[in-house]
Amino acid sequence: MCGIVGAVAQRDVADILLEGLRRLEYRGYDSAGLAVIREANNLVRLRRVGKVQALSDAMIDPLPGGTGIAHTRWATHGEPNERNAHPHISHDEIAVVHNGIIENHEQLRVQLQRAGYVFESETDTEVIVHLIHASLKETDSLVTAVKTAVSQLRGAYGAVVVDSRQPDRMVVARSGSPLVIGLGIGENFVASDSLALLPVTRQFIYLEEGDVAEITRTEVVIEDASGKVVDRPAQESSASYDAGNKGEYRHFMLKEIYDQPQAVRNALESRLADDHVLEQSFGAQASEIFANVKHVQIVACGTSYHSAMVARYWMESLANIACSVEIASEYRYRKPIVPEGSLLVTISQSGETADTLAALRMARHSGYLATLAICNVGASSLVRESDLAFMTRAGVEIGVASTKAFTTQLVGLALLVLAIGQHQNLNALLLEEMIAALKSLPEQLEQTLLLAGEIEKLAEEFADKQHTLFLGRGDQYPIAMEGALKLKEISYIHAEAYAAGELKHGPLALIDEDMPIVVVAPNNELLEKLKSNVEEVRARGGLLYVFADRDARFISDDTMRVINLPHTHPWMAPIVYTLPLQLLSYYVAIIKGTDVDQPRNLAKSVTVE
Ligand code: AGP
Repeated sequence: MCGIVGAVAQRDVADILLEGLRRLEYRGYDSAGLAVIREANNLVRLRRVGKVQALSDAMIDPLPGGTGIAHTRWATHGEPNERNAHPHISHDEIAVVHNGIIENHEQLRVQLQRAGYVFESETDTEVIVHLIHASLKETDSLVTAVKTAVSQLRGAYGAVVVDSRQPDRMVVARSGSPLVIGLGIGENFVASDSLALLPVTRQFIYLEEGDVAEITRTEVVIEDASGKVVDRPAQESSASYDAGNKGEYRHFMLKEIYDQPQAVRNALESRLADDHVLEQSFGAQASEIFANVKHVQIVACGTSYHSAMVARYWMESLANIACSVEIASEYRYRKPIVPEGSLLVTISQSGETADTLAALRMARHSGYLATLAICNVGASSLVRESDLAFMTRAGVEIGVASTKAFTTQLVGLALLVLAIGQHQNLNALLLEEMIAALKSLPEQLEQTLLLAGEIEKLAEEFADKQHTLFLGRGDQYPIAMEGALKLKEISYIHAEAYAAGELKHGPLALIDEDMPIVVVAPNNELLEKLKSNVEEVRARGGLLYVFADRDARFISDDTMRVINLPHTHPWMAPIVYTLPLQLLSYYVAIIKGTDVDQPRNLAKSVTVE
């Protein structure tokens, strides 16, 4: 989704802005632009469709100036072209970059046109810049003008504003789209993600909903939603400067697939004793809350939703607690009945997904016992607004296709199930067995990654296919869904997942020799049932690719390719069996030559509805 970078400094900032945009490329975008105040009353803007590199190439001459803003745009209102790219300007004086969606932009546009403003773009953002320009006719204060303008907006915004007549400052406003201020020495910065600013600072102030801040080289003054000046503490980031570096790997996605054994180790570290889960990993109040949980509602989107689906199987059969799971964009518009003693769990890699956040905010008034965020970004809105939080510690995930975020979410969910189970008479031996299985997981993932060569060869058989089916049963059904999502996301091959028992209720009609069928088959209690479903496919000429436990006794022949995985504890199989499916998608995408890390039309962090 869109990315923002801004700077006020004594040195020239154009290169800092470009580097910040590069570090935000992973979010997905279709155009990029920047505006720099060269000197008082001299605002220079440059925009390009396509990659940040195109913008950089367009900067033939150096662009001097110590105050500037920059943006990568993911089109919502108006097609991806230069006219619609940010920054938007009014009368060559005011420039704005904006993330989010202004819902009442049409009405404001008409109002501003009546007042004589001429619009250059089809974007919702352009109303903001003209509103600020209009407000500045009544006041000299940029911050007052921004507050007046944003008070007229409905929707979501993270916006940064500069005025060429006041070249020493920028004003930022946050409502619904995250913004972080980076503190330097004699210079200050702003961005939509702290990753963009790591080359210039490690001190960050995360703005709260409704905050407006005025930023100069030496000062940051923040007002909260009520207009009161507030002191928001600065936090030191421990993220590595190179977090955005793919090292020896060809793509971030491949690096992140291989990061998984270590990411899972990190997710488990200091969270397990030999015979119990340390509940404090979820927050200081966790034990007290978990003791009173009678029902769990999980809400998430995309890949995070798939991890929630796995957790439902675990929660009901291990912790003996009823568990419901729903896609956030659906949940937020329902009027759910919340049973007494319900814990709301939201899951998100970014912690900024608009629908998941909206579901959390709605739940505050719905009678939940408490809310828990399972998230990879500590400073995210989701974490800050939840009662409890479990940090997945996957490390920065750059590839749009989520990999290590998913497997570490599953680890967090397994720990949650056990932690709640500890209050529900979960059998002590079973608990110890599960803890041992979790501890052996990183090694199992390492062994599974050794299959990469075999999977790379297999991928050749998928590259010319138009459609695929993924099958699983029980807690492997969501893994089949995740495998299908990965394949369609990065290779653009149509992929569907079915609970294997559903085949004969319709999808069996699709089976022919052009439709590869991927099956996930660990050695669990549903194996024999799954084998019957596999036979149903074989009998109709389907071509099968079975990822199976080596003890599951599947044998390769003309109609079936078997890829044997190391033997794994059945409860851990959803995590282990995810890896070969990630690798399969990756290698198919490589053969097809698609943009693995930034697939078309997708964004890493979906901060709009
Ligand atoms: C995963 O590969 C996707 N890119 C997408 O489904 C993602 O999981 C979804 O947008 C939710 O994001 P979140 O985990 O940051 O909330």
